Amino acid sequence: MKILILGSGGREHALAWKVAQSPRCEALYIAPGNAGTNQVGTNVALDHTDFDALHAFISSESIDLVIVGPEQPLVDGVADFLRSKDVAVIGPGKVGAQLEGSKDFSKAFMKRHGIPTAAYASFTTDQQAEALSYIQQHSLPIVVKASGLAAGKGVLICETHAEAATAVKTMLSGEAFGSAGQTVVIEAYLDGIEISIFVLTDGQNYKLLPSAKDYKRIGEGDTGLNTGGMGAVSPVPFADDSFLAVVEDEIVEPTMKGLIADGIDYQGFIFIGLMVVKGKAYVLEYNVRMGDPETEVVIPRIESDLLDLFEGVVKGKLAEKKLDISPKTCTTVMLVSGGYPQAYEKGKRISGLEDIEDAIVFHAGTRLEKGILVTNGGRVLAISCEGETIEHAIHQCLTKASFVDFEGIYYRTDIGKDLLT
Ligand code: AMP
Ligand code: GLY
Repeated sequence: MKILILGSGGREHALAWKVAQSPRCEALYIAPGNAGTNQVGTNVALDHTDFDALHAFISSESIDLVIVGPEQPLVDGVADFLRSKDVAVIGPGKVGAQLEGSKDFSKAFMKRHGIPTAAYASFTTDQQAEALSYIQQHSLPIVVKASGLAAGKGVLICETHAEAATAVKTMLSGEAFGSAGQTVVIEAYLDGIEISIFVLTDGQNYKLLPSAKDYKRIGEGDTGLNTGGMGAVSPVPFADDSFLAVVEDEIVEPTMKGLIADGIDYQGFIFIGLMVVKGKAYVLEYNVRMGDPETEVVIPRIESDLLDLFEGVVKGKLAEKKLDISPKTCTTVMLVSGGYPQAYEKGKRISGLEDIEDAIVFHAGTRLEKGILVTNGGRVLAISCEGETIEHAIHQCLTKASFVDFEGIYYRTDIGKDLLT
């Protein structure tokens, strides 16, 4: 099979790394990729918004399967476009992608299909007065969300009514997140522990992939600004078989049945962000792709051939495929640029990778400049290690991380610590 992966982060390097190991992989391209993906495949400069150019490349290289890493091309309809040209795709069409692209859509989906989620109401620009009065009678804290895609920044947890009112006004006016904020979802705050689960589906059947927990804040002890994710752990110890059986029963199966009932033919990943409150799981959000950096701990634990599973997805035969998962723990620590998630510099020379053994270094924001590896993003490298325990795996990650250097390098040293007790 000849494969094209869309995307350029650590998630795409992890997918490419795994796909390249398949005996059935004849050729692998990543668009646009990074310095790491180019070690396991061939990077190609393709613009995700230019569907015709994507299709021209796919035709000229006889690509058999396209794996879409990030959400934006899915929300833009790349999967529908390619399927209309008879190209097999991992990733939902435009309607399915609304599960992530519109929180208003996904909350209505959950409500319609009886999937546990926080109580909510949604409002559009012309309903500001109603939104403000809804806030006034709401208990604190109040969660205010921009309905559309806002690069992970569209959720505000407001401690006062005044703060929530300001959030609503700036979102509905378009000032805060442009059109993504012109519909807002206002929801009840859930106080619990977060965990992510990942589903791979052919539209009828599904496989539950390993669970993971990511660490979104920049600072130690989960403090400071939100980032794309500073590290991850898989599996999550409290997500044992009995917990997962309940989650399948109350969340995954109703989600699959809901998609089928709504006539949404969904082929690809569903990443379900859960909040567990007193042992009960509620859906915080759906994403229509894998997580980053969750992929960097989930993929290394999958022992089966990923291309075989993907073939099951696109042929509607996922039920016939085997999914073997390593019982080991995998953790990842993100090495980021100084200043991230705010302004940071790029082009810093990266050294020390050659000294790393017994770890997988997934590249996120890297590129080669005249043959020299340099930083090219906020999140630069994800160092993933396996171990018998979280403690062991994290110790490995931190040891390997200490070998790496670039100007301004920063990483959290407390990934997974909260799961130890
Ligand atoms: P979302 O994009 O909807 O997953 O929200 C991003 C993050 O905001 C989540 O990972 C949670 O940490 C937090 N969050 C979202 N909704 C809620 C809620 N209802 N209660 C508490 N925290 C929330
Ligand atoms: N790590 C969170 C995400 O990929 O959305």
